[in-house]
Amino acid sequence: MTSEEPFLTRPCREYKDSYIAAVYEYIEENLEPTWHPEILSSRFGEFLEVMRQAETEPLAGMAPATTYWLIAPGIGYVGDLSLRHHLNDSLRRYGGHIGYTIRPSQRGKGYGKRLCQLGIEAARQRGIRNILITCDDDNLPSRKIIEANGGQLLGRIDNGRGVLTRRYWVYDDRQCADY
Ligand SMILES: CC(C)(COP(=O)(O)OP(=O)(O)OC[C@H]1O[C@@H](n2cnc3c(N)ncnc32)[C@H](O)[C@@H]1OP(=O)(O)O)[C@@H](O)C(=O)NCCC(=O)NCCS
Repeated sequence: MTSEEPFLTRPCREYKDSYIAAVYEYIEENLEPTWHPEILSSRFGEFLEVMRQAETEPLAGMAPATTYWLIAPGIGYVGDLSLRHHLNDSLRRYGGHIGYTIRPSQRGKGYGKRLCQLGIEAARQRGIRNILITCDDDNLPSRKIIEANGGQLLGRIDNGRGVLTRRYWVYDDRQCADY
């Protein structure tokens, strides 16, 4: 990899401004942020602490998860990925080990595919061999991303929201898959 390529980092102050700019983009597309940009701006340390706590002391019903930011040189934050350390019943149906988002202004440039690839590598480094990734049946970009990263379709299930969920495994050892 050259130094010009995008890379993963944990949320940190260095990319605070580009992250906050991205949150305004998410709001523009009607995505309700957990942290409003003005609150993020004044309480960024607290935000970082909450991210860290999610790794070891998740909220009730949540699996422990690590958040990574995808950083592109010259741009800063372009997207994020949540890596769940293990599956709970809910994630086994919908959510899987990895969830990702690319900020609206940077979509369609291959960042989603690269982010997913780096997330799979991070999962393997944690010892997760078979990786479950899910997406809505009608989310074509996400389907392409998962399939380009070796995802094999296990099936489609009704997620109770009126949309089918596609469940894919990226296998390391099919014999050990946790269906
Ligand atoms: C899904 C998402 C991560 C894709 O990110 P991205 O950076 O645009 O993806 P890429 O640029 O790597 O493109 C992946 C593929 O989707 C295609 N694609 C991208 N945007 C598309 C669109 N609007 N319509 C159709 N295809 C599209 C690309 O051409 C590429 O296909 P190819 O492999 O045939 O060239 C992004 O749209 C997003 O954040 N969406 C909201 C959150 C979300 O849906 N997350 C996934 C949850 S499972």
